[in-house]
Amino acid sequence: MHHPYQIRSIEQYQSDYQRSLDDPEGFWSFIADHFVWKKKWDRVLQWNFSEPRVRWFEGAQLNITKNCLDRHLSDKADQPAILWEPNDPNEAARTITYQQLHQLVCRFAQVLLNNGVKKGDRVCIYMGMVPELAIAVLACARIGAIHSVIFGGFSAQSIADRLTDAQAAYIITCDGAYRGAKDIPLKSVIDDALVGNDTVKRVIVYTRTGTAVSMISGRDVWWEEEMEKVSASCHVPAETMEAEDPLFILYTSGSTGKPKGVVHSSAGYMVWTNYTFLNVFQYQPGQIHFCTADIGWITGHSYILYGPLSAGATTLLFEGVPTWPDAGRFWDIIDKYKVNILYTAPTAIRSLMGFGNAPLEGKDLSSLQVLGTVGEPINEEAWHWYNEHIGKKRCPIVDTWWQTETGGVLISNLAGITPSKPAWATLPMPGVKPILVDDKGVPVRERDENGLLKGNLCIQSPWPSILRTTYGDHERCRQNYFATYENLYFTGDGALQDASGNFRITGRVDDVLNVSGHRIGTAEVENAINAHAGVVESAVVGFPHDIKGQGIYAYVIVSHFHQDAEHTRKDILQTVARVIGPIAKPDKIQFVSGLPKTRSGKIMRRILRKIAEGETQHLGDTSTLLDPGVVREIVEGAVE
Ligand code: PRX
Repeated sequence: MHHPYQIRSIEQYQSDYQRSLDDPEGFWSFIADHFVWKKKWDRVLQWNFSEPRVRWFEGAQLNITKNCLDRHLSDKADQPAILWEPNDPNEAARTITYQQLHQLVCRFAQVLLNNGVKKGDRVCIYMGMVPELAIAVLACARIGAIHSVIFGGFSAQSIADRLTDAQAAYIITCDGAYRGAKDIPLKSVIDDALVGNDTVKRVIVYTRTGTAVSMISGRDVWWEEEMEKVSASCHVPAETMEAEDPLFILYTSGSTGKPKGVVHSSAGYMVWTNYTFLNVFQYQPGQIHFCTADIGWITGHSYILYGPLSAGATTLLFEGVPTWPDAGRFWDIIDKYKVNILYTAPTAIRSLMGFGNAPLEGKDLSSLQVLGTVGEPINEEAWHWYNEHIGKKRCPIVDTWWQTETGGVLISNLAGITPSKPAWATLPMPGVKPILVDDKGVPVRERDENGLLKGNLCIQSPWPSILRTTYGDHERCRQNYFATYENLYFTGDGALQDASGNFRITGRVDDVLNVSGHRIGTAEVENAINAHAGVVESAVVGFPHDIKGQGIYAYVIVSHFHQDAEHTRKDILQTVARVIGPIAKPDKIQFVSGLPKTRSGKIMRRILRKIAEGETQHLGDTSTLLDPGVVREIVEGAVE
């Protein structure tokens, strides 16, 4: 059957794209008409980027879980909604049908209500990749509570900061989480995060690992016991949400200060994740979709949960890591579940590529039909390996560019419909108007010797799932995204555009790093390093890393070594893991006696970046430096 808003040809892409620009309101109301609303909208779109103020489907009322669950019960009740593959391949897998998921979500929604959670309350979720994480997220959405999922790799300090920022009074967690060979004590991390916190009223703990935990009386309760108190067949009506009511907060790193809480709306986010899921991956009924991200990141929110479930798809949730028990794990999973769509990150592809073809032997990957990548630029070598060895040259690869702030994919080819181009994200989705500008905000018109435009990537008008604010600090949202260039949303990315309109994203142009697809601010890492008692000052930059994409290089001034340099280095790594989490640990630390600063005291990162890249011959103009001698010392002591 022909899907009403799935683009099925290049010509249709072109005409839909044009229509989305000529008549955005008509275009999006046609699509939105296919969702379940309690009340339809009065206005499709109102916006200005100066405040910024963006309102999609104003006046409409809905609940996203009606669209992700209830509406599928008439024809997909027994179809698997979630397939769950545990960390340990020998443990039993789980299948949860739409009917079962609906029931579990209602039941846990009642648990939340019983524990005092109300519409608009912020609920922090810190769990491993178990089906209960999906249930917790959807149960929040069911009752209109705002979920804020925190990736299981973040430290107690990071959680504490996020709890305070979101003023969250409720936490859902697990006793522990399995990730590869590791056993992560989640509840104990939460306990550390809660020392001195008097806002959190309730912690609900799901039993996953059976590890000993301390349950604080009056505050902590067990998931299983709370569920027992609620009838298995209870029905919790979906809370009525206004279109612009926040659905969730997700913290992400920027170039300055602490991570900010990106806020997404109910209606616009729903429409966009559904629309992009169906179109980018060209999802067909019955297919098995495997997105390898963690639900702690935006990719998991949009393309493990909300996009697939709103489209009635079967989504695969994998608890573990690609290299455990061995580097064939993804291929085993694809074989076992007959996965049709694989959506993963370049860093995973590069790491698996490094194991050669032995882990692929005997694995049947013939079910695969579509491959996708996300999170960082993909290099051509990894693209070709993915195409040849995984897709066997018969699966289109979608290179999807987007961000936490964009809610869903903005630039990508459409699988099998619009052409792919290795390492290029290619064309904008309907409704997306990208533009490249120079540092003054002037649109770039001059092509380079290869016929390419090069500039800072901005978007000229709102798509339905653009972030609405940064939680508790709207001015920060304006400053970060809408103040750099007038009337434009600034992505923080640099890009190239060819004569056919294709985009290639080259990476961040601000002080944000992308390490194994994880977004980390250099300022955040510096603050963490500076927290170490012996550190006087530090400067952090990225450098190209074969597997991670970017690695973290830290230049550190210490007052003295505790024992010796090696010991101090380890202490600093430990400190960063404590303050942020293990993902932010520098790959290289160089102890220096000074940093290259201008006379006004600004660190010249350009020079530090070049040294970290191993480019020590052409450091450019160093004449404005306060002490040019320091550069020589840094070059000589650079860490290979
Ligand atoms: O630099 C871009 C890079 O990831 C950044 C967004 O990171 P985050 O908010 O964590 O979201 C990641 C998952 C959507 C972007 O600013 N990025 C993301 N996708 C691509 C990419 N860079 C190049 N190509 C991509 N396909």
